[in-house]
Amino acid sequence: MSKKPVKKGHQVETTGHSWDGIEEYNNPLPRWWVYVFYACIVWAIGYSIAYPAWPGVKSATAGMLGFSTRGDVQKDIDVAAAKLAPINAKLEAAELTAISGDPELNGYAVSAGSAVFKTWCAQCHGSGAAGAVGYPNLLDNDWLWGGDIEAIYTTINHGIRNEEDDDARYSEMPAFGEMLEGEEIEQVVNFVMSLSGDAMDASKVAAGAVVFEDNCSSCHMEDGTGDRDQGAPNLTDAIWLYGGDYAAVTETVTNSRYGVMPNWNTRLTDAQIRAVATYVHQLGGGE
Ligand code: HEC
Ligand code: HEC
Repeated sequence: MSKKPVKKGHQVETTGHSWDGIEEYNNPLPRWWVYVFYACIVWAIGYSIAYPAWPGVKSATAGMLGFSTRGDVQKDIDVAAAKLAPINAKLEAAELTAISGDPELNGYAVSAGSAVFKTWCAQCHGSGAAGAVGYPNLLDNDWLWGGDIEAIYTTINHGIRNEEDDDARYSEMPAFGEMLEGEEIEQVVNFVMSLSGDAMDASKVAAGAVVFEDNCSSCHMEDGTGDRDQGAPNLTDAIWLYGGDYAAVTETVTNSRYGVMPNWNTRLTDAQIRAVATYVHQLGGGE
């Protein structure tokens, strides 16, 4: 690039490049722009020292100001927890049966329990606690394992048939498909359905009563009303955990079911478990 030609009538130099007679002006950047540009560089260096900036493999550089949105949230949570600490301590110290008699404690437990329920329980029991097939309705007074506050607390605390808690509620109905003839299963299903008032084949019901007595009464009791110590449902109340039509009852008897609920004592605080137990207890079926 030798001598830079100057365009006639202009004081601006060109770069000296020329394409088919088209030339390129060499306008310097405006000073103000250059200063803003330098200021940005200085600011960016300062910022990346002060605040989290450069990504690493697992996290970014922390920054000298110690700023962290996660930290802010944790601070808010700590403040809220500190505010609730006294009432949570009171809830943990109270007799379970005394909670409902203390209006302040009960009010707190029910609203805190409702929040726990919506977060941890609704996906199985439904947001209104009405349950679904395989997941019991917690609004009614039909309880598998007991409906007083202590029984509900124990169920939630340790869970049911899970492998994590040695104190989990446990029982196992055998799969009778391997133990009874197809005809016997047909008979006992007829008998079981007749218990809650379904009109069934009388001769099968009579034969099924014998099969029931021999195979089922140890858990479901001779009259079919169930046994809470074993979580064996009442079969006479037309409330069905796994469905009460012929096909569903046959499936239950043939292959059995194995309802599992996690234990909550490793996931929730004792105050949260007490709160959600109080919430469930006052839903309508509490004893
Ligand atoms: C993963 C699904 C699941 C979740 C989550 C769950 N449960 Fe359950 N729960 C079950 C099942 C299944 C049963 C019935 C087990 C059986 O057949 O005995 C049950 C039974 C119960 C019972 C006993 C009902 C009775 O009739 O005796 C209570 C009380 C209960 N759950 C409360 C809760 C609470 C409170 C939570 C939340 C902290 C919760 N459950 C979360 C699945 C779940
Ligand atoms: C060892 C105890 C035990 C024996 C024996 C037993 N059951 Fe059960 N049964 C249970 C338990 C526990 C459940 C709850 C199932 C679950 O959630 O896993 C249940 C559930 C049922 C249900 C489902 C009820 C519902 O609400 O959906 C039916 C029906 C039933 N049993 C019928 C029978 C019949 C018929 C026999 C005999 C052929 C029998 N059971 C023998 C323990 C037993």
